[in-house]
Amino acid sequence: MFAPGIKKYPFNRIPKIAFMFLTIGPLPLSPLWERFFNGDEGLYSVYIHSLPSFKAEFPPSSVFYGRHIPSQVSEWGKMSMCDAERRLLANALLDISNEWFILLSESCIPLYNFSVIYYYIVVDDPDTARRFV
Ligand SMILES: *[C@@H]1O[C@H](CO)[C@@H](O)[C@H](O)[C@H]1NC(C)=O
Repeated sequence: MFAPGIKKYPFNRIPKIAFMFLTIGPLPLSPLWERFFNGDEGLYSVYIHSLPSFKAEFPPSSVFYGRHIPSQVSEWGKMSMCDAERRLLANALLDISNEWFILLSESCIPLYNFSVIYYYIVVDDPDTARRFV
């Protein structure tokens, strides 16, 4: 996880948590994540990066729909884990609302519900708390 470097913004905005999924193929636990994110739109962003040979198929209603980061190389052997992580982070950084970045694999599961995690990460940060109250 990376902490935000910029502490003040010239406008009001709701900080988001970027969930970056680095997977080999499918995301078998996606139903769990769908339930986790359900109802908290606007407080998170989702990004997935998987093997170039894998074609993700999520229904339009899914939080993962259209969130796939394309690989730049065609051969997996030529791409390192670091390249994939960098691409995920580079894409997540394009959204200025993302302030926290969590890297996940296909075997990760959420242990707490979204409110608990958001509160723990975002609101517990003294700088953010100041903006919320
Ligand atoms: C999330 O979990 C906490 C602690 O278990 C609970 O108090 C809270 O009501 C839950 N929130 C939602 C939206 O389910």
